[in-house]
Amino acid sequence: MYRSQKGRYNKMLTPAALQFRQTGRAFGPRLAVDALNLTVAAGEFVALVGPSGCGKTTILNLAAGLIEPTKGEVESFGAPLKGLNPKVSYLFQQDALLPWKTLEENIALSATLSGRDGRDEAREWLERLGLEGFGDYFPAAASGGMKKRVALAQQWIPRRPLLLMDEPFSALDIHTRQRMETELLQLWDEDRRTVLFVTHDLEEAIALAGVVCVLSAGPASTIINSYRIDLPRPRAIADLRLDPRFQDLYRNIWNDLRPEVLRSHAG
Ligand SMILES: Nc1ncnc2c1ncn2[C@@H]1O[C@H](COP(=O)(O)OP(=O)(O)OP(=O)(O)O)[C@@H](O)[C@H]1O
Ligand SMILES: [Mg+2]
Repeated sequence: MYRSQKGRYNKMLTPAALQFRQTGRAFGPRLAVDALNLTVAAGEFVALVGPSGCGKTTILNLAAGLIEPTKGEVESFGAPLKGLNPKVSYLFQQDALLPWKTLEENIALSATLSGRDGRDEAREWLERLGLEGFGDYFPAAASGGMKKRVALAQQWIPRRPLLLMDEPFSALDIHTRQRMETELLQLWDEDRRTVLFVTHDLEEAIALAGVVCVLSAGPASTIINSYRIDLPRPRAIADLRLDPRFQDLYRNIWNDLRPEVLRSHAG
């Protein structure tokens, strides 16, 4: 955990990107998340897996400062979180492109808002993401994968140190999804910024993350176990699932996750 590694972040000196301490969040009488203890070290890629409706988005919303905890606290980079977290970019579960702007303009806007020359940067991103020739498409005419790539660029561009991602690829077909996962890991490898990635797909969590945390079924969802994923990087996403080490990890973690998934269906 504390060995020196590629990237700008020195884990010994940098406070945790996120620290949840006995954090809980209720909506009216219903306790969605409770007694959540989670440390996301700076530079770490952490995945949260849990059944549908268990509270994954709620945890990201707490990290972003969009909602406040009703119990316990949330700290980000060493300071208690008050209001919106200025250190985060947030890739929402739903698409959030501006429908009246083209794909290129959507990307450019993100760079412009970060005080840089949007046009040039947008063209570079289009090329990098294999979207040359599609820059003048409006979101309505773009495929789900194209829109996700644009949304990823939009959130990567501001260079904020913590990226929150909420099931970003779950609506994509398996090939597009694996391509997006590969692109994300390539981006992440460049500067190892901190990522908190939410998914209900355990394979995806293991393939991407350095740490996988399993959430219990709600109500009062909490982390029941965390696993370090010591698969070497860079990872060949498309072949990874055949690796015996991957399969061992999958079996172990699934033992924890399976009863929670069954419980959430029963509820
Ligand atoms: N604004 C809200 N008002 C009332 N209840 C809410 C609100 N937001 C979330 N909840 C409830 O909190 C619980 C957790 O919701 P959340 O959206 O965090 O789950 P999730 O794990 O992200 O689900 P999914 O996998 O379907 O995206 C659910 O029971 C949900 O109905
Ligand atoms: Mg959700």
